[in-house]
Amino acid sequence: MSVPTSSAQWSSRLGFILAAAGSAIGLGAIWKFPYWAGANGGAAFILPYILFTFTAGVVLVMAELALGRSGRGSAVEAMRRAGGRGFAWCGGMAVLTSFLILSYYAVVGGWCAAYLAEALMGEAASSDPEVLKMRFGELVSSGGRNIAWLFAFLAAVCLTAVFGVHRGIERLSTCLMPIFFLLMIGLAAYSLLLPGSEAGLAYLFQFSWSTVTPQAILNAMGFTFFSLSLGAGVLVTYGAYVNKSTRLPAAAMWVAILALQAAILAGLVIMPAVFAYGLEPDAGPGLVFITLPMIFAQLSGGSVVAVIFYFCLFVAALTSAVSLLEVAVAFLQNECRFSRRAAVFLCFAALFILGSVSALSFGPWSDCLIFGRSIFDFLDYVCTNFLMTINGLAVAFVVGWKAWPKAMKELSTCSPENGVVTKGTLSAIGFGLRWLAPLMVLASCWQGLEA
Ligand code: PFF
Repeated sequence: MSVPTSSAQWSSRLGFILAAAGSAIGLGAIWKFPYWAGANGGAAFILPYILFTFTAGVVLVMAELALGRSGRGSAVEAMRRAGGRGFAWCGGMAVLTSFLILSYYAVVGGWCAAYLAEALMGEAASSDPEVLKMRFGELVSSGGRNIAWLFAFLAAVCLTAVFGVHRGIERLSTCLMPIFFLLMIGLAAYSLLLPGSEAGLAYLFQFSWSTVTPQAILNAMGFTFFSLSLGAGVLVTYGAYVNKSTRLPAAAMWVAILALQAAILAGLVIMPAVFAYGLEPDAGPGLVFITLPMIFAQLSGGSVVAVIFYFCLFVAALTSAVSLLEVAVAFLQNECRFSRRAAVFLCFAALFILGSVSALSFGPWSDCLIFGRSIFDFLDYVCTNFLMTINGLAVAFVVGWKAWPKAMKELSTCSPENGVVTKGTLSAIGFGLRWLAPLMVLASCWQGLEA
């Protein structure tokens, strides 16, 4: 099977960390985190999420990167090399998972593109929550508009992917991530200064056992996977492009820290404003698209801030979506011998068809329910809470049990100037992978299923 050539490598350690963080930080942190935290009782969701991130989450990031770097091919190839032929299908499941996620993720990416277009026309801000709710409702319930924006977003994703790993993905991430962080810090400061914002802070961080539900814990576990881009073959695929001088455990820690702080920052922008403006914290997927325009309306120069914000949000969604696409593209290139262009084109067509189904589930097909959920919600629920976590378990098993000596070597390989990985660190990672991650994932899935 083919090995990525040197041109398909990250140009530096920082470039790789930013690209991996670019995959992790996206709509999950900014769009999904505030509304999931809102729907799952605030702190009852956030504290387990932080706990999962720094235990099961971070060791699985390390495992996926090690698997990818030693596999040097697609997710399927990496699983086959580490676990033997029988495990290739686990890689196939990861490819399928990333594909399904991208199909509905791109619908929300399309909303971001639509809001960016509105911001450019100076129409994004309004201080009237009813107008904003109506505007969001009109966008998502119009099948035609939703599909058109889905098409535009997918086209942008595929174009970026055609430029390849180094030129397309890495450059975008390197330029825009720092701008985005600064902007979010500024918006969080503004939101926290609004009168009445303390209630939002209390909602986010005041923990009480009485609000913890099994479903909130399952959702926190699912969100950890979603936010770290775990269990979908992305980090395995990106790991294949990492050079041998990078210290994987440290890189994984960086990715986890950056992803977590992006989500917390988004919570600090949205929740204080939600309470200050008297909105409902559990308002659902529209939360970000309704709260932020209210902030922009009150800022001096708010329309310029809105353009910068929606541009960064669009790019954050784009870098995550490109990483999801890369899994299927690498698979088609390595396993089916497609050219990069043909692979991207085929994915574009299939994603557009599948994505349109999710896009229509907000409007014309909103009555079509699967187990009580819309098609969009059902896909999201199954992918985040089950497919990603099951794939994560497979990675933990293969890396922690079947290929641990090889994985240890991979995890400790780095150039001397990047430090050393001690024996103690390796044993802790081994323990995390063999016992902690599987137990945590199984316990939360069990709890969620029982609920
Ligand atoms: N981590 C991305 C986000 O939070 O927006 C979404 C994502 C990317 C999920 C890649 C899964 C994945 F494999």
